[in-house]
Amino acid sequence: MRYVTYKTESSEQTIASVKEDLPEIQNIKGAKLREKVVQAWAYALTNSSFSRISDIQGAGNPDQIVLISGHQGQHLRDVASLAMSMVDKFETRFPQVKINRDIVLAGALCHDIGKPWEFDPKNLTHWRGDPSATGEPSLRHSVYGAHICLTVGLPKEIAHITLGHSMEGQHIGLSTKCLIVRCADHIWWQIAAATGLIKAGTTSLLPNYIRPRMSGVAPS
Ligand SMILES: [Fe+2]
Ligand SMILES: [Fe+2]
Repeated sequence: MRYVTYKTESSEQTIASVKEDLPEIQNIKGAKLREKVVQAWAYALTNSSFSRISDIQGAGNPDQIVLISGHQGQHLRDVASLAMSMVDKFETRFPQVKINRDIVLAGALCHDIGKPWEFDPKNLTHWRGDPSATGEPSLRHSVYGAHICLTVGLPKEIAHITLGHSMEGQHIGLSTKCLIVRCADHIWWQIAAATGLIKAGTTSLLPNYIRPRMSGVAPS
C-alpha cells in the first residue's frame, strides 16, 4: 500500500522554469488565473521526478506516439496556439460567437498537466513491476491532471478540460472550451504522425485512418 505525501512548496527555480517553458501564460488576461496556471504546473513538477516541463518526453502517452525530437513544452505551446486560432476564426467570422478566451488558453496550457505523474520514470518502474497490483498507469494523466487543477484551486472549467481532452472525454459531455482544446490536441498528434515527426513503432494508439509518414520519406 502506498500513501502519497504532497510537497506544497515549489522552488523559485521551478516557478521560473514554468514561465520560461510556457511563455504564453503571460497572455492569460486574468491575473489570478495566470498565477494559478503557474502554481499548478510548479506543483505538478515539484511532486514528480522532473525539474521542468521541457524535460518530459514529447509523447502522447509514455513511449507511445513519441516525437522523433521535441518535448512536452512544444506540444503544449502549439496546442494553445491552435486552440486560440480556432477561437479567433469563429469569433471573427461570426461576431455572435463568444468563447471565454482565458479559459481556452489556460485550459490548453494545462491540458497535459498530469504528465509529470504519468511519465515519471519512478512511477513507470513501479507500475511496470507488477501491473496487477498497481494498475498501469494507476491514473492516466487526464485524471491526475484534473486532481492537480482542483487541488491548486484552478476553476472547475480547467479541470474539466484536463479530464475531457483525452479518451476519458468520450464518457462525458464536453464544454465548448474543452471541445476546442481536445480537437487542437488530437489534430496536433495526428498531423505530427502524418508529417513524419513520430517514431516508427509508437503509432498504434492513433486512429486507424491515420497513415504515419515514415521518417525521412519525402512528401509526394
Ligand atoms: Fe493528453
Ligand atoms: Fe496533449
